Amino acid sequence: MAKFHVIIPAAGSGSRMASVLPKQYLPLLGRPIISWTLDTFLLCERIAKVHLVLSAEDADWQAQNIQHPKLSILNCGGETRAATVLNALNILNVDVEDWVLVHDAARPGLTHALLDFLLDEIQDDQVGGLLAIPVADTLKRANNEQRVACTEPREGLWQAQTPQMFRYGILKEALTKSGGAPTDEAQAIEALGLRPKLVTGQLRNLKITFPQDLALAEAILAVDQQGVRK
Ligand code: C5P
Repeated sequence: MAKFHVIIPAAGSGSRMASVLPKQYLPLLGRPIISWTLDTFLLCERIAKVHLVLSAEDADWQAQNIQHPKLSILNCGGETRAATVLNALNILNVDVEDWVLVHDAARPGLTHALLDFLLDEIQDDQVGGLLAIPVADTLKRANNEQRVACTEPREGLWQAQTPQMFRYGILKEALTKSGGAPTDEAQAIEALGLRPKLVTGQLRNLKITFPQDLALAEAILAVDQQGVRK
């Protein structure tokens, strides 16, 4: 039976966080963001292995003191997110039919229930897919002066999240062929002419990008801590 592997690219600089420490190491309720993110996968019995991909220059991981039998650390980050994921795929020793889930290091709000939902929805799919949420707000296109140039129709638009889940063979082929550094895995798969499935995610699976996102993520995780995280 096909196994589920996870790749967490964590070799970015997180420049929009305006922090010297890479964003995945910033504290969230007293623990680094990355430890929240890792826990969801490490504690899921359906996941075979979790590969955390760091930049070769990463100087902060050792101090986190995080170990787990299912966790492997790869120091092969690339220039772009796509390059980081491809570098990892090139050294993984897995079956072409195995599933690979790629998840952002700074998305600590993924729940066990949402992960299970994604695995259930995609595991029998021919192409693979991703968590995403239908766009709820009205969309404005800006001009060069940050004024509204026009209103864009939002019908049929979804905001991509992660995990993004594809079979190892297809994902490696897609990223190898993708010249222009796609910003997510699905974009590379689309370029092969395939149509990834959109699986409805949740807002709580936000990517911490700007400093103010930390307080929002803390509020979400604090509510979880009052009950059992599902
Ligand atoms: O910058 P952004 O938040 O879009 O990055 C998404 C994910 O990709 C992050 O987990 C980041 O660390 C990772 N990344 C990477 N290698 C890069 C750039 C981004 O692993 N060169």
